Amino acid sequence: MNKHTRIDVTEFVKRRFDLMAQMPENSVALIPAGKEVTRSRDTEFLFCQDKDFYYLTGFHEPDALLVLVKSIECESILFCRAKDPEQEVWHGRRVGAEQAESEFNFDVTYELAELEQILPLYINNRDAVLFAQGSNSEFDSLVFACLDILRGAGKQGLTAPKTIIDIRDLIHEMRLIKSPSEIKVMREANEISANAHKRAMQASEQGLFEYQIEADILHEFAYNGARSAAYGSIVAGGENATILHYTDNDEVLMSDELVLIDAGAELAGYAADITRTFPVNGKFTKHQAQLYNLVLAAQEAVIASIKPGSNFAIANDIANTVLTTGLYELGILTGDLKQLIIDKASKQYFIHGIGHWLGLDVHDVGDYQINEDRQQVREFQPGMVLTIEPGLYFDGEANVDENYQGIGIRIEDNILVTEAGYENLSVNAPKTVSDIEAIMKK
Ligand code: GLY
Ligand code: MN
Ligand code: MN
Repeated sequence: MNKHTRIDVTEFVKRRFDLMAQMPENSVALIPAGKEVTRSRDTEFLFCQDKDFYYLTGFHEPDALLVLVKSIECESILFCRAKDPEQEVWHGRRVGAEQAESEFNFDVTYELAELEQILPLYINNRDAVLFAQGSNSEFDSLVFACLDILRGAGKQGLTAPKTIIDIRDLIHEMRLIKSPSEIKVMREANEISANAHKRAMQASEQGLFEYQIEADILHEFAYNGARSAAYGSIVAGGENATILHYTDNDEVLMSDELVLIDAGAELAGYAADITRTFPVNGKFTKHQAQLYNLVLAAQEAVIASIKPGSNFAIANDIANTVLTTGLYELGILTGDLKQLIIDKASKQYFIHGIGHWLGLDVHDVGDYQINEDRQQVREFQPGMVLTIEPGLYFDGEANVDENYQGIGIRIEDNILVTEAGYENLSVNAPKTVSDIEAIMKK
């Protein structure tokens, strides 16, 4: 088992074969690794591997290239950085071409220095080349340079593929259905993240800065093996919670306010994406609890409906019905309730979608099949993982009773679709009023 991937190398080999089985006869696929990104002068951000490349290789170094050849036989080829004692003393160990072949089970490996000379030969005489055209201009240029070399060498019997195919759809459809070993990693990413949310609840106190709670969360992630958050953590006290992607995290928490935390660990490449909202002082006021219980009721109703064959459009409808009815009962929405539900009146305060796919990317890949109503109607299938995250947001300008103004609430769980229905992967993060108040009791 590779320490970076936590998934056996045989599974990566199988994914490559599954992809090649879908490629046209006599074609070649090119999937580049990620590149290091400069943070400042000569220092880089912590490296994040390209997720499609990672899915097919488990290889954790930048600058590599996966080549898949589908001909009479199928072949997996990796180009990667050469061993280099001087570079390795400064920047860390490299696997090297020789070890990559045996450790990651490629048929052939080369050092990057050989790329320009050898890559055209793998593309030569193929009917089609598959790659993610447009996602990486430097790589586009490399592929087009190879094609030009082949087109210019007809007299030597070389030919360039006539067809270019976007490989993303094929890989992304595969990534949408998680294997048992991927689910195991995602369960663990969720356990770590749920513990971080619990710790944040226990640490919460009037007068702390939002970033101090963020520090607790990031410590819990890293200490448990998830060195990165899957996305910028949101710790939003009071009205900051009405800013959906608030990441400044630099204000003081006030005793009578709620704090919204949207934070998830990335473990072995896989994201968790959990949101909890709770009172800074550990006790909900009457009005906070009214809104909180309404969002929770919507979330629980949607989650209870998750099963194979359902879809995001149904989930959105359930959330809208529960939220609109609740807002009507609280006097926040007025008029004819039936009509309000048809008009999706809750959307005034629930301003984002009910959820998204989750996996190697936090907003994971895979088609939603958005129809003409812009509804997400792709059927849920066992092995899909998705978030369910209703919310209500009343900024200081909202035309509502002043007791509700400045309140933002979101509750977000990570749901695995199973044969029988669903499994809530983030179930260990407390979310009922009584569970939250109990864990926060000093
Ligand atoms: N954390 C980003 C999202 O919930 O979609
Ligand atoms: Mn989310
Ligand atoms: Mn989130």
